[in-house]
Amino acid sequence: MKKVLFVCLGNICRSPSAEGVFVKMIEDAGLSSQVSADSCGTAAHHAGEPADERAREHAAKRGYDLTSVARGIEREDFDNFDLILTMDNSNYNNVLAMTADVHKHKVRKLTDFCKDHPHDQIPDPYYGGSDSFELVLDLLEDACGQLVEQLKEEVQK
Ligand code: 4NP
Repeated sequence: MKKVLFVCLGNICRSPSAEGVFVKMIEDAGLSSQVSADSCGTAAHHAGEPADERAREHAAKRGYDLTSVARGIEREDFDNFDLILTMDNSNYNNVLAMTADVHKHKVRKLTDFCKDHPHDQIPDPYYGGSDSFELVLDLLEDACGQLVEQLKEEVQK
């Protein structure tokens, strides 16, 4: 099983949305028995909460169900996951600073996988409006779509 972890700050907006988009794409690609996903935040103040209502509503309009319950990142995550995908420079730097050298290769920015967008970060929508949540989904669909294509090739090898 290839295990993917999506990481943002609070684990209530971007990373639960990434998980929801990715899991739907993995299901649609018939890869659910080979690839799994989870999400977490670098901060744990929202631990135990469902995804932000705005994030859930925007995702639902595109057919994604956000079911995650927020949690903070844990030491074991670096052993347990194969790919640790962060949303912005701050998450990336914070996660990398916690990561032992042997696991640093697992940590990437999710926007590294974007094909149709020039963005190098997925901006925090928490204090933004509807457009911010729509942009997050646009970027996630782009990046996760490419990631699923790559994983399809890897798991079929
Ligand atoms: P996320 O968004 O990192 O995409 O889950 C945020 C959620 C909460 C806060 C900031 C960003 N906050 O400051 O509480």
